[in-house]
Amino acid sequence: MKILVIGSGAREHAIVNALLRDTTEHEIVVAPGNAGIADVVETVSLNTADGPLIAEYASEQGVELVIIGPEAPLVAGVADALRSVGVPVFGPDKAAARLEGSKDFAKEVMNAARVPTGRSMSATSIAEVDSALDEFGAPYVVKADGLAAGKGVIVTNDRAAAKDHAEFFIHQGPVLIEEFLDGQEVSLFVLSDGDAVVPLSPAQDYKRVFDNDEGPNTGGMGAYSPLPWLPEGFVDEIVETVAQPTIREMSRRGTPFVGLLYCGLIVTNTGVRVIEFNARFGDPETQVVLELLESSLAELLRATATGRLASAPDPIFSEDVALAVVLASEGYPESPITGKPILGLADALEVPGVSIAHAATARDGDGFVSTGGRVLSVIARGGGFGDARRRAYMALDRITLEGSHFRTDIAAKVAE
Ligand code: AMP
Ligand code: GLY
Repeated sequence: MKILVIGSGAREHAIVNALLRDTTEHEIVVAPGNAGIADVVETVSLNTADGPLIAEYASEQGVELVIIGPEAPLVAGVADALRSVGVPVFGPDKAAARLEGSKDFAKEVMNAARVPTGRSMSATSIAEVDSALDEFGAPYVVKADGLAAGKGVIVTNDRAAAKDHAEFFIHQGPVLIEEFLDGQEVSLFVLSDGDAVVPLSPAQDYKRVFDNDEGPNTGGMGAYSPLPWLPEGFVDEIVETVAQPTIREMSRRGTPFVGLLYCGLIVTNTGVRVIEFNARFGDPETQVVLELLESSLAELLRATATGRLASAPDPIFSEDVALAVVLASEGYPESPITGKPILGLADALEVPGVSIAHAATARDGDGFVSTGGRVLSVIARGGGFGDARRRAYMALDRITLEGSHFRTDIAAKVAE
């Protein structure tokens, strides 16, 4: 299959690696990709927010499947442009990507579909923010409505900090004040062709920058899959109570959702609640979920893109477990220091069961330098989490990046 992957992160590198593991060979091009991706497949520099340009490129090149990784092109309507020229695309149209692009819209859909979620109020003035903060009380949860690259949400006991956050974002659109939900978080990826719904293996993401969930929220510092502590039937329950009703509601509105519905969940004492939807694969969860996928990713995503998901074979996952640890630059998430050499990658890859997905790296002669906050993910698999953890951290020990940091507690509790 001729496949175009859009994006430049560790998620896209993991997608490419999964496509390359397929028993059939594919012709893969990534726009724009990154230095790690360029080592394994062809990359092309295209403006990935420009729908007509991507559509023209894909038709001219005879691309049979486009996989859109990040949210920005989806919200900008790149999938719409591809569909309008008849290129199969994995990723929702602009109207359906609003499930991620507007938290207010997502709440509206959840309420219409009776999907369990926290109570929330949408505020458009500081006076409304004030009264909502008082109504819900501490801990305060304040969210920007639109895309904010992981920086839109604050959870704090400090009322002044909650209000400052709202004041900062309210100029860009409504701000949501939400009921605080307490419990384990689960990321469940669900494929949908607009009608049928197929779940992948659940994963957990580590959002805070430091061990023991301290420090500010980030794009994600690590992940593991599967989640052996989930009650039996959990995934089926989420499909029935969250994914199917949401997909049906989107289709009823005439804006079917085709692609990956990322259900961000919290398991509270009184049941599961949705904290957010995303319209794409999560990063770093993709690095662990796809590591364990044994079925053909290309076939699965093409079936999703072409309305044939109901008749496609269910995805098969390995009995192994996987974790990913993100190596971050000094100063991440506030102000990452970049341009530093990354040493020891080849040695790290010698550790059995370890692979590396690049995110913010560039070539520098024979080596690599860092170019952003989340630099790469070290992915390790094993028969159990103890094994996988030893492998991941042994590999990280072999990598040198001045000033860098990573969490040491990824999958630690589940390994005990
Ligand atoms: P989001 O971008 O909506 O996923 O929020 C980022 C993170 O903030 C989540 O992964 C949770 O850790 C936390 N969070 C979001 N909403 C809530 C909530 N209502 N209660 C508690 N924590 C939340
Ligand atoms: N891991 C969180 C996200 O992809 O949004």
